Amino acid sequence: MVLKVNYLNEKKYCDQIKKNIKTTKGNNDMSELNNIALKILSNGKGILAADESTGTMTKRLDAISVPSTPENRLLFRETLFSSESMKTCIGGVILYDETIKQNANSKKSIPELISASGTVPGIKVDTGAKVLANSSDEKITEGLDGLRERLKEYYKLGARFTKWRGVYVISDKYPSKLSIVSNAHSLARYAALVQECGMVPVIEPEVLMDGNHSAEVCLEKTSTVIKKCYEELTLNKVDLTGTILKPNMILPGSNSDKKITGEEVAKLTLKCLKEVVPKEVPGIAFLSGGQTEVQATENLNLINKHNDSNFIMSYSFGRALQQSALKFWSKDINNIKGTQDTFNHRANMCSLAAQGKWSKELETK
Ligand code: 13P
Repeated sequence: MVLKVNYLNEKKYCDQIKKNIKTTKGNNDMSELNNIALKILSNGKGILAADESTGTMTKRLDAISVPSTPENRLLFRETLFSSESMKTCIGGVILYDETIKQNANSKKSIPELISASGTVPGIKVDTGAKVLANSSDEKITEGLDGLRERLKEYYKLGARFTKWRGVYVISDKYPSKLSIVSNAHSLARYAALVQECGMVPVIEPEVLMDGNHSAEVCLEKTSTVIKKCYEELTLNKVDLTGTILKPNMILPGSNSDKKITGEEVAKLTLKCLKEVVPKEVPGIAFLSGGQTEVQATENLNLINKHNDSNFIMSYSFGRALQQSALKFWSKDINNIKGTQDTFNHRANMCSLAAQGKWSKELETK
């Protein structure tokens, strides 16, 4: 049975999980994965994607003139992970390989620090998107070789969910069939291995915003991409009740002069996901993909206001959760409280949006 638990208090949520967990032996593990997925996304919680590779994090720190050392990367991330809103708004944190192996100031490991807030530690396990042979404008995500062994290590370090991102570009001829099939195949093989190792795979097929295409084109291409992913996931016998989908919202290209309203974004995004995502999937956690913090929050709020699907609709934001906090932190990297206040505000806004309770007025309160 698939659970749909929305915004119950913690006790009711646990009781409902216990009541619904299947008791036949073969299904126990999968119930546990469903349980983890719901713990991450229920009650207005979402995911903090703090899994920037060292290269990407270095770009972010260069932009604010903070030296990109392991100590500074840890200081910023630990500041977020010890914030108050971790307990109320963040159900899961996606870490990068460097961070999951670091220790916090308190000598706790980073996964222990995260778990202490009742949040589930997760890990990015792909090794990045590389040029796709025979279609050099497109990318294929790598990291399947040796993945089973790495997963076992991450599980021992405390990870209970994982992320793999496939990227797709939009143009007249892209994404090509080759990119759609290859990335779906990799995402599905990744997800099967992750479930075998007792963790929840977050499946992220990201159709990029770059370009001057319309929202309708984004809808059509995103639908094709996601549909293929579920074909491959089914072929690989992945139990969808123990997965989370991390898609882009349906938006016009960032260079398109045809802007659309948040209401239209919500309508198109819901149309896409209701048509192509199987009902067994317990939750969907959007990436922010280059939208501003407020845009991503407003769109998520509208999606939830109109959500007539059986899916929990929440967030797995990177930039849209961290941008303001990073900017604030750059002024004084030792101002922990101020940085945490900035992050708490953002996390609270995202959590309200995940419940359809956000408003512009609350942003400025
Ligand atoms: P953004 O929310 O910044 O797009 O990042 C989400 C993410 O994890 C991309 O893989």
